[in-house]
Amino acid sequence: MKQITIAIDGFSSTGKSTVAKRLAKALGYVYVDSGAMYRAITLFAMRESFIREGHFDRGKLISKLTDITVSFKFNPDLGFAEVFLNGDNVEKQIRTLQVSNYVSQVATVPEVRKQLVKQQHNLGKDKGVVMDGRDIGTVVFPDAELKLFMTASAEKRAQRRYDELIERGDDVSYQEVLENVESRDLIDSTRKDSPLVMADDAVRVDNSHMSLDEQFDYILGLAKAKISE
Ligand code: CDP
Repeated sequence: MKQITIAIDGFSSTGKSTVAKRLAKALGYVYVDSGAMYRAITLFAMRESFIREGHFDRGKLISKLTDITVSFKFNPDLGFAEVFLNGDNVEKQIRTLQVSNYVSQVATVPEVRKQLVKQQHNLGKDKGVVMDGRDIGTVVFPDAELKLFMTASAEKRAQRRYDELIERGDDVSYQEVLENVESRDLIDSTRKDSPLVMADDAVRVDNSHMSLDEQFDYILGLAKAKISE
């Protein structure tokens, strides 16, 4: 069967990764969470104190980029690939609100993007991949056969992310999660390098009022149609 590239972009916490994982599983494709790569670099920058409240030393981070290896390893128990930073599993650590609070600043740095986009190209070079992020359909795989752009109201997105964080046992308030979602939307869509914009040929999916199953069935239908074209 024909293998295609599926690019899923959109605002923060729109459920991109949930649908991308399910789609990859249904099609037997590889799923790549590009946001996790930006989060892993952010965790590195936080640990080295290159970034903290009111301070971001871009130069130091750029000078250490060659020391950072981000990789994925499939975990059969979870059914998806976990993220490793210099050989350590950081899947849990990268999902905290602290990392979310710094990641969009780190993602504005062109040198960071260049390094990760190169790796993303490589991960998707054989097609048969579902990749989610902010610039997948516009910059990473502009020739992707299927591009989706996911949206939902900021309140819906914040509520979903708040529920996820509480479920994990994190001590956060709905208000701070909402502020994070809104601030990332703004930084991500106004940065100079690879801003979050909808590709001209992307299909917009507003899932504010869609159940997970409805959304999945709709997107799987789009993917199957592209594969059989
Ligand atoms: O929280 P959510 O799952 O929506 O975000 P994510 O996919 O984990 O991405 C975290 C952050 O990484 C985004 O807010 C962007 O700043 C950055 N990012 C990016 O710039 N380009 C990508 N392709 C993916 C993520």
